[in-house]
Amino acid sequence: MTSDSKTSVQLDFIGSLERTHKLGVLRSTDAGQTVTLMGWVNRRRDHGNLIFLDVRDRTGITQVVFDKEVSPAAHARAEAARPEYVVAATGRVRVRGEGLTNPNMPTGDIEVVATELLLLNESKTPPFPIADADTNVNEEVRLKYRYLDLRRPELQRNFELRHKVTRAIRDYLSDNEFLEIETPLLTRSTPEGARDYLVPSRVHPGHFYALPQSPQIFKQILMIAGFDRYFQVARCFRDEDLRADRQPDFTQIDLELTFPKQETIFRVVEGFLRAAFATANITLPEGNFIQMTYDQAIRKYGIDKPDMRLPAMVDLSAEVTPELRESLKIDPTLPILGFTIPSVGELSGTARKALLAEVRTSFGETGLDLLDVARLRTAQAFAPLAEAITTALTNELAAFTNNPQITTNNSADLHIVVTPKPGTPSMWNYDPQWIYKRVGQLRLDLAKKYADKHKLFEQTKTAADFKFLWVTDFPMYEWSEEHKRWDAAHHPFTSPHEDDITSGRLTSDKGAVRALAYDIVLNGTELGSGSIRIHRQDVQAEIFRSLGMSDEEAQARFGFFLNALEYGTPPHGGIALGLDRIVMILAGATSLREVIAFPKTAKAIDLMVDAPTPVSDIQLRDLSLRINTRS
Ligand code: AMO
Repeated sequence: MTSDSKTSVQLDFIGSLERTHKLGVLRSTDAGQTVTLMGWVNRRRDHGNLIFLDVRDRTGITQVVFDKEVSPAAHARAEAARPEYVVAATGRVRVRGEGLTNPNMPTGDIEVVATELLLLNESKTPPFPIADADTNVNEEVRLKYRYLDLRRPELQRNFELRHKVTRAIRDYLSDNEFLEIETPLLTRSTPEGARDYLVPSRVHPGHFYALPQSPQIFKQILMIAGFDRYFQVARCFRDEDLRADRQPDFTQIDLELTFPKQETIFRVVEGFLRAAFATANITLPEGNFIQMTYDQAIRKYGIDKPDMRLPAMVDLSAEVTPELRESLKIDPTLPILGFTIPSVGELSGTARKALLAEVRTSFGETGLDLLDVARLRTAQAFAPLAEAITTALTNELAAFTNNPQITTNNSADLHIVVTPKPGTPSMWNYDPQWIYKRVGQLRLDLAKKYADKHKLFEQTKTAADFKFLWVTDFPMYEWSEEHKRWDAAHHPFTSPHEDDITSGRLTSDKGAVRALAYDIVLNGTELGSGSIRIHRQDVQAEIFRSLGMSDEEAQARFGFFLNALEYGTPPHGGIALGLDRIVMILAGATSLREVIAFPKTAKAIDLMVDAPTPVSDIQLRDLSLRINTRS
């Protein structure tokens, strides 16, 4: 035992003592009862002859009073207690005196007058206080001492919520004839677009398993095997750049069905999300979620995961005649896009100019510019144009403000109009939707900039604050500038529309091919993705070819799957939703680390267990591996 961990107080054994109540449950109706409570000391207040211990467990906090006159022995023990000590207190429940109740605590009407206190375990002084909801604690310290961090009521609530959500989804899917089937963790690479985590085989030197990026191929094989409806709360592993909504080790609600229409899958997901949200007392409205195509999403929001808590972009091209375009030096062929960020507050002339200058700078060499509507209004020749633009933007806002959070048009709303300068920059050559995406990004950036003012991204808590939608008809292929080739936009098992197959577009016009692929989006976050799959071996082989994969390579990587497809594969489709993301949004958290018990840092490190670590030479030798320290 080191001196650091030396016991400084005499500890008690628990003996036959049993806990009678948890710490969040006692009420004034329990007054007079003798109770035994056990938990952690949240706070200790010493008033001489009276000592108060707030004792905490997962269910709440109860105030226990040690009165020297009632029990000198218990009072003496309470003197030794410190925050995070584990204690057992026996005493009588009494209603607190007038003016002494605490309306912020469910147990705030009562206290327990202790006759006995056992100190079951002591605690070092924690590196940060558990009792304060202090969010300024360095996150690395929180992650290193995750067991203490997890004691904080806020995190305890998040994990209770996570449990309830998972359970509701499991129940819903089970009630709808889905079978929960586990698939292997030691497997081979699945093409979800990230790097694999590899596990070396000892028995087969130089061979590696891959941890699954998703159960994609297995769930399709379960459909071939005739299981009809499958689901899994599936652990997935992806070695990719991490962000607040990405962890290397995360959980999907993964499912697959035979003979589905897209709508069949949408209704299943809407059903389990309704059940999941109900566990947080949020009743999502009945009826189907909004649905729009990928192209509509890009044109209206400039992004495939629109945040519907803001008004859409407006195409103002029709308001600006060719003559006006010419005199304002606007490209005659490209759209003019505008949007409103509501309720940012009055901007002074100087602030407005500074903002416009900042945005112009952010456009860099893209060929985009801003139209200063306020200035146009002051120039007689352009006043009608300024009026027309303002009206078009206000109409969009008016349509949007069915949302009671947002007030109707006023000078506190920020109107932004983006114009392309003459001449076509090169980015439009390979992505004709580039301008929509860039303006959509600006819409989100400005919304975030003014978020505090217009309370847009405040913690959401009523059903109306959760804006779900389905985005459908994603492109089948996506051009990779880096690799100068077409990649699968979702994954290569996704079915194109039937007419894209029959028309030959798979080879002749990849950019135009639409997939039977869909995403479910919530408040600007992609919650889940899925598709109707290819069920014919000839079509699957054709898609691999269209992705530049030779038949030999396809055989080497997916031969087992191509073989399986040849044995009576039914039409099938499915989806996977990020469980961590669902819980994060529902908990009002901004990072997955708040809803994953033992998460990793942005550098993929587990600070508590200190992983990854080097391994011993013996282990390396067993695995026939040598470390090249130069790279
Ligand atoms: P996809 O790759 O889009 O699809 O993943 C589905 C959902 O999983 C969640 N997700 C993540 N969550 C946390 N950290 C990550 N690193 C991470 N990566 C993905 C997201 C995402 O929407 N097999 C297909 C699904 C299918 O076609 O059925 C798949 O995995 O919420």
